[in-house]
Amino acid sequence: MIQHKPNKRQINLYINQITNFMKKIKKSLISIVLQSNSLLMGENTKYILIFGLSISFVFYSVFIYRQPIARVLTEDSEIVMAGKMIWQQKNCGACHQIYGLGGFLGPDLTNVYSTKGKGPVYIQAFIKGGTAVMPSFNLQEQEVKALLEYLRHIDASGKSDPKLFNINYDGTIERQ
Ligand code: HEC
Repeated sequence: MIQHKPNKRQINLYINQITNFMKKIKKSLISIVLQSNSLLMGENTKYILIFGLSISFVFYSVFIYRQPIARVLTEDSEIVMAGKMIWQQKNCGACHQIYGLGGFLGPDLTNVYSTKGKGPVYIQAFIKGGTAVMPSFNLQEQEVKALLEYLRHIDASGKSDPKLFNINYDGTIERQ
């Protein structure tokens, strides 16, 4: 069997054809880009657009960075912070959860302040007296008050019981 080997002249011809073809494509691409550019918008429109976008970017950035990142504590923040300190020192979180985080010997206390049949007096009774499982901490009146303020503050920050929420089709949740 004789193998057909292209000679040099033929190879050159091929290469020429291919480069010509590429040149044509390049030419038509450039003309398309140039045309669409001049058809879609003039130079001025482009500058106005870029200027507008830059201004919006700056304004939006300033707007976003001026939003408070966290809920600002209200004027009672000092006593609330004192209550939080006692919560940590007495390690209430070893047995109780807030928003589901903490120990599981006792119940979640996120909304104990506003729960029907519970509330400040009920909470005080537990803190002062303790139970068979929960120690009584022999706290001073001021400390009990601070703890109550802390629990009131936590309660006002939201609801924690997952059973009270419905899951929407898009994954967001809503209070029942
Ligand atoms: C050693 C574990 C333990 C520690 C520490 C503890 N508790 Fe408790 N607490 C319990 C248990 C358990 C109960 C549930 C009542 C029971 O079974 O005796 C409870 C009940 C309560 C209740 C009533 C909750 C409800 O919904 O009925 C409150 C309020 C409470 N504790 C507050 C506190 C505070 C405030 C602290 C910290 C100063 C604290 N507890 C520390 C174990 C603990």
